[in-house]
Amino acid sequence: MTKISVFIATSVDGFIARKNGDIEWLHNSGHCEVDKDEDFGYQVFFSTVDALVMGRHSFEKVLSFDGAWFYGEKPVYVLTNRGVKIPPHLKETVSTLSGSPREITQKMEKLGHHHIYLDGGVTIQKFLAAGLVDELIITKIPVLLGSGIPLFGPLSKDIKLQHIDTQAFKNGFVQSHYKLIK
Ligand SMILES: NC(=O)c1ccc[n+]([C@@H]2O[C@H](COP(=O)([O-])OP(=O)(O)OC[C@H]3O[C@@H](n4cnc5c(N)ncnc54)[C@H](OP(=O)(O)O)[C@@H]3O)[C@@H](O)[C@H]2O)c1
Repeated sequence: MTKISVFIATSVDGFIARKNGDIEWLHNSGHCEVDKDEDFGYQVFFSTVDALVMGRHSFEKVLSFDGAWFYGEKPVYVLTNRGVKIPPHLKETVSTLSGSPREITQKMEKLGHHHIYLDGGVTIQKFLAAGLVDELIITKIPVLLGSGIPLFGPLSKDIKLQHIDTQAFKNGFVQSHYKLIK
């Protein structure tokens, strides 16, 4: 079975970006500087995944970071119905996919991926609604944005969570780890 995990940061009022996609507030909302090698568990988490599945908006946002590519050689599947331009230097690792969350999960399974890092608000909401997310690691950033792109959306039924752990960082970031009860 392919495991699907979310590792994401939100404002305390639950937004992953401003309406215009801005995420600068992620970097300037802490109470104080943290050690320069503090990555809030990102590398440890990243080392456990073998591929990424992300929405087209998130991919385009990453591409806007002046050539920075955070995912190394790991395969990245960009979900899109309308298509997206993949820069030549990423063609070896990035490809596009569309379909229902179940079809996409089955495809990941067939490709032999054991652990997927799922990213993007709309994308995460669709996989949650389909009951296909296994764990959520959410870092709350100490800021209220009032509006923006939400992490969560409407559900046809409750999704129960098992709280695994919560860690507070000295800069005010609070990271909670949940497993979804299926
Ligand atoms: N705070 C954080 O840690 C964090 C993390 C990730 C992203 N973000 C931010 O969140 C924003 C993006 O989130 P978002 O909610 O706007 O969108 P998103 O989930 O990144 O992308 C949505 C798009 O993905 C495609 N898509 C999703 N599911 C699909 C499926 N099953 N089949 C085919 N296509 C599918 C569609 O693309 P088409 O329209 O092409 O069909 C849809 O419009 C960006 O600003 C990004 O920077 C923040």
